[in-house]
Amino acid sequence: MATHCSSDNPQRDPKQLRSHRWFGPDDLRSFGHRSRLKGMGFDDIDYRDRPIIGLLNTWSDLNTCHSHFRERAQELRRGILQAGGFPVEVPVMSLGEMLMKPTTMLYRNMLAMETEEVLRCHPLDAAVLMGGCDKTVPAMIMGAISADIPVIFFPAGPMLKARWKTETLGSGSDAWKFWAERCAGNLCDSDWTDIENCIARSAGTCMTMGTASTMACIAEAMGLTLPGASSIPAVVAEHSRLAVATGRRAVELEWQNLRPSQIVDARTIDNAIITQLTIGGSTNAIVHILAMAGRCGIPLTLDRFDELSEKVPVLADLRPSGRFLMEDFHHAGGLAALMTRLTDILNLDCPTINGCTLGEQIAGSESLDNNIIRTRDNPLWPTGGTCVLRGNLAPDGCVLKTVAAEKRLLQHRGPALVFDNYPQLKAQINSPDLPVTPDTVLILRSAGPQGAPGFPEWGMLPIPQKLLAAGVRDMVRISDARMSGTSYGTCVLHVSPESHAGGPLALVQTGDEIELDVQNRRLHWHVSDSELARRRSAYQPPAERWTRGYQKLFDQHVTQANQGCDFDFLHGRTPGAEPDIF
Ligand code: FES
Repeated sequence: MATHCSSDNPQRDPKQLRSHRWFGPDDLRSFGHRSRLKGMGFDDIDYRDRPIIGLLNTWSDLNTCHSHFRERAQELRRGILQAGGFPVEVPVMSLGEMLMKPTTMLYRNMLAMETEEVLRCHPLDAAVLMGGCDKTVPAMIMGAISADIPVIFFPAGPMLKARWKTETLGSGSDAWKFWAERCAGNLCDSDWTDIENCIARSAGTCMTMGTASTMACIAEAMGLTLPGASSIPAVVAEHSRLAVATGRRAVELEWQNLRPSQIVDARTIDNAIITQLTIGGSTNAIVHILAMAGRCGIPLTLDRFDELSEKVPVLADLRPSGRFLMEDFHHAGGLAALMTRLTDILNLDCPTINGCTLGEQIAGSESLDNNIIRTRDNPLWPTGGTCVLRGNLAPDGCVLKTVAAEKRLLQHRGPALVFDNYPQLKAQINSPDLPVTPDTVLILRSAGPQGAPGFPEWGMLPIPQKLLAAGVRDMVRISDARMSGTSYGTCVLHVSPESHAGGPLALVQTGDEIELDVQNRRLHWHVSDSELARRRSAYQPPAERWTRGYQKLFDQHVTQANQGCDFDFLHGRTPGAEPDIF
């Protein structure tokens, strides 16, 4: 593991510490703050004039990917104490992909708001953001950008590789693959149980290049982690050492007063997009990058993703697009090694929380395995591994992970088979009477940010059982949903505007001809203007469903997929009120 670049510790006057406002003054409120810490067993010497470092911990018994975070919190504390800081652990909402319904995406913005407010309302000088499972990463970074207090992101790290018989298993991707074989009648009960027993081998996030690993790599590329942090497996000793080093760095960050606003700008966001593209990363990252840019007030549209996609090759040969897993990627040199192959495209002069530029941070890294980290003249995919499509079905855009699709389907025209919602799809998809052929274009609506609600990962529509039995493994599928970063197939996602908001997807009917033309970045619905006008005039918008609480707030304020699905009132860098007047 590389260490950070700068250990300069320009001791600011401790009276400049943010926490000094709580503990320094000789007044009744400060007396109360100090006396209650004494009641917990801390003397002045423990915390006075020292940076107070919050450990925002997303540990939960219901987040399988973060089950090692209690130990890591202790190791982070060790590093903070070594560097002269005072660690305080603050639990925040945990978003575990595997056990939350309807989808963690419904709560990404809630965790982002919680992160922002927890940072703001407490006597914290800096913080370590302990996240990993998919949405925890963008949520905590979004909140930290808005709070603008020095932070360092500590990724949970991927699970160890799993093994079944002679096969190496990757969570998520291989679950989808073997489920298809089971539905096709090719996998017995005993094998299926064996796979269930071994596919999740340890604590940590999914070990494919799913959303968690994609977002961890993006956090590293944005300069928000220690170098090399994104791929260190969750349960190896190196990950414990990463925790201790992250704790030490958090204290230095405060003395150097390095804030997200000094790190994240439009060039950083470009680096995030370039990273998502070259690692063959999750399409979910597109939504999250849009949201992070929105928090900074950086104007960003889907067009920028497609512009960069034209010049960025996919160099990481990782599942679900390629062959290897995160542990392999780490041993091959990890993200820094990959980035040294893109020095002509990345913005290397971007600052990082490590006190050096991105270019200085990755200097000297090299790939140790060109099968895993491909060379520029032998990429996994030359350019356009993820593309943005537009057309009369998606006027505001939609996305397709071309590198994870069957190439023959990238130019395709076929009749639509429309499912109005997910329950209908579930009830009908395996019916022997389903009017479907391999050329059919499966369409799911009511699965977007407002429609589901929460924008669930339903976009990898299941292949109908009768086609699976006939050997079909991919079809063109279109929806206003997302799909898991571990998923694959010719799945057109994030159709905007979504059907629930009256987008054209609401008006498609079974039998309409749909044309996918990836080369020209086009998704076309063959419908006449007069027929479209007739359907539009007959359209009935859905009734309001959410009458209270967070779901009502979400429904009223969430933006569309092409805008990042953040709440409209959280856009921009407008600073929140610091709580120093009370
Ligand atoms: Fe947590 Fe995949 S379920 S990262």
